Amino acid sequence: MSEASAKTSPFGFRDVEASEKVALVHGVFRNVASSYDVMNDVMSGGIHRVWKDAACARLNPQPGEVILDVAGGTGDIARRLARLARAAKARRMARGYDARDADIRIIDYNEAMILAGREKSIKSSRDEREISWSVGDAMQLALPDDAADAYIISFGIRNVADVQAALDEARRVLKPGGRFFCLEFSHPTASAVAKIYETYSFKVIPFMGEWVARDRDSYQYLVESIKRFPDQETLKAMMQKAGFHRVSYTNFSGGICALHEGWA
Ligand SMILES: C[S@@+](CC[C@H](N)C(=O)[O-])C[C@H]1O[C@@H](n2cnc3c(N)ncnc32)[C@H](O)[C@@H]1O
Repeated sequence: MSEASAKTSPFGFRDVEASEKVALVHGVFRNVASSYDVMNDVMSGGIHRVWKDAACARLNPQPGEVILDVAGGTGDIARRLARLARAAKARRMARGYDARDADIRIIDYNEAMILAGREKSIKSSRDEREISWSVGDAMQLALPDDAADAYIISFGIRNVADVQAALDEARRVLKPGGRFFCLEFSHPTASAVAKIYETYSFKVIPFMGEWVARDRDSYQYLVESIKRFPDQETLKAMMQKAGFHRVSYTNFSGGICALHEGWA
């Protein structure tokens, strides 16, 4: 376990049995699924879009690649990756090369989030042929070793009961040289930013949750889980422990969010 004892896992400011955390986090995302995308925009003033764009550009999806969007929720990351992969495919074909579609697999253990994402896809009636959806656990993926070219987990790893187990599993399913990316809330590096952010997190976000999603508790969990999540250097060390090479991270918005990356 990354924090607390071997049998417990942090759920907000509490430590709970790892199996209880799985059930509690399930409950949180079942409750917020239908308002999840709207709340992301409201809470971050739309900045989460900039962070996600940057992460997907960095992953640089290529035609024919198998790319896992683990804890993919409503598909925000996968849709960005599909657009980039399709553009890369068109560029290749324009120069006379053969190119296959990318194979972008959303894996999330919460059916409600997947259903909300699929509903969004159906409503938009966009062609999302690169994307597939399935229910699965980041700590135990139903995939053979060396199955994927790239792996991304965006605002998901904080919710997993055993962060180290999820990192080990990511390393297992990536091909040698495969790219790993983790986009997650992190710890502001400047004390002025940290103070403003702390006030905003604890005094404003739970009220927004109540007001927009009619669910204060889930958003109280969100801010508490961010506060307890390992800082940039600790997560980097955990990735190295999982066997990733060339591990580095980029802070976004003064460290409110960070993108960690490494090679399998
Ligand atoms: C905050 S949402 C992030 C969704 C999406 N990746 C994004 O960036 O918008 C976190 C997601 O993690 C999923 N999740 C939590 N624990 C998980 C696990 N062990 N395995 C797979 N998904 C998990 C939740 O169901 C939820 O959909």
